[in-house]
Amino acid sequence: MRTQLFIDGKWVNGSKSDSFEVTDPATGQTIATVSSGEPSDAVKACDVADLAQKLWAQTAPRERAEILRRCWEVLLKHRDELAELIVSEQGKSMADAKGEVTYAAEFFRWNSEEAVRIHGSIGVSPSGANRMIVRHPPVGVVVIVTPWNFPAAMITRKLAPALAAGNAVVIKPPKETPLTALRIADLLSGAGVPAGLVNVVPTNDARAWFDAAVDHTATRMVSFTGSTEVGRSLLKRCADRVLKTVMELGGNAPFIVFDDADIDAAVVGAMTAKMRHSAETCTAANRFFVEAGVVDEFSRKLAAAMADTTIGSGFDQTVTCGPLINDTAVDHVQSLVDAAVNAGAKILVGGKRPEGPGSFYEPTVLTSVVADSPIAQTEIFGPVAPIISFTDHEAMITAANDTEMGLMAYVFTEDLSKGIAVSERLEAGMVGLNRGAVSDPAAPFGGMKQSGLGREGASEGIYEFCETQYIATGW
Ligand code: SIN
Repeated sequence: MRTQLFIDGKWVNGSKSDSFEVTDPATGQTIATVSSGEPSDAVKACDVADLAQKLWAQTAPRERAEILRRCWEVLLKHRDELAELIVSEQGKSMADAKGEVTYAAEFFRWNSEEAVRIHGSIGVSPSGANRMIVRHPPVGVVVIVTPWNFPAAMITRKLAPALAAGNAVVIKPPKETPLTALRIADLLSGAGVPAGLVNVVPTNDARAWFDAAVDHTATRMVSFTGSTEVGRSLLKRCADRVLKTVMELGGNAPFIVFDDADIDAAVVGAMTAKMRHSAETCTAANRFFVEAGVVDEFSRKLAAAMADTTIGSGFDQTVTCGPLINDTAVDHVQSLVDAAVNAGAKILVGGKRPEGPGSFYEPTVLTSVVADSPIAQTEIFGPVAPIISFTDHEAMITAANDTEMGLMAYVFTEDLSKGIAVSERLEAGMVGLNRGAVSDPAAPFGGMKQSGLGREGASEGIYEFCETQYIATGW
């Protein structure tokens, strides 16, 4: 298990020999003590990234592509080992953890294919006086700050396109889940990624670390996934140096079920949209709008599926939902459920923390929830499905859009033209139409409104890590 900082291809301790503990949320036990990076370590990492990037930017796209493809192969080869690390520090089920590693690796395969297709353009100016050449050089050094819910995939989703475009990175993994990030750095180095391009500097002092990295003159971009609240504050800091940013922030996804939907398929979709990765995703269904004619059937079947969920440590292969990340997360979920119940919601299943150790919460279904209640307006980040019954389609769409978040939405109907029409009216960067999962490295992931800026994945994702240069020329 790697527990030091990874800078310039070497394992080093933080300059003040400070450290912090990583715990297994299923047991509350400490599983590792990790060296904590100081602001000066972040500066050192930016220095080496700057030097390495200048050489990397000159390599042929094909050379970068082949190294990235080897990264995909190496991560897949170590899928089981990485999945075990994810389970031990993050807690999700083993099936979700293995799925995450496959997803994480796929960002390398996709971007290895994109690396050779970063094309610009050439055109004639409207006056005919000159040619207009447009090209896309790399931005330079990119600072990557990632969350604990996907310890592998949220890193590779940024790292792979950054490298493909010719950049170097300095990564601050979350203090809850640094072990997977460190092991990935190790594996990528073995796959042939040159020293200095990928630097991983965990820290228990995120603010000071970030300030130092942002102030480094080589830093040209910040890519962040996390809460809207933190994203807003990082954006303010990035403004000091006018840094390019990509921000993947919070969600509040509506999950809409019309009375002409296939209810069994909607329940399967709801379980995926709500429960994948132990319900700790930004894309998680947060509010279930169900048409009055099917609300009883949908609620009953969803409650039965939730009751069938097995909670426990992800190391137990029968477990389908792991713990939340810590007790603070459990308290947050409980306070939202209590407030909803006090306002008249009914608990069909769950509704409390189970007895025993670990940061668990029972899979929960609430009915008779009102659309403007705190549970329907706050990102739950836990296994709770609040159901809101509707009759008026227009009022439901207004309520679904009545949020500052706009990451994800889900629509279930057997009428495809209605489904597309409703999807187009939803203020969300992504819509799952008769699907409970949409994430795909080949698709543009990202939000509207306060859910973020920029897109990750697809061909859009790689251009986020590029500048645009226009050369006006006559010949
Ligand atoms: C997230 O929750 O931040 C990402 C979810 C995904 O990529 O599917």
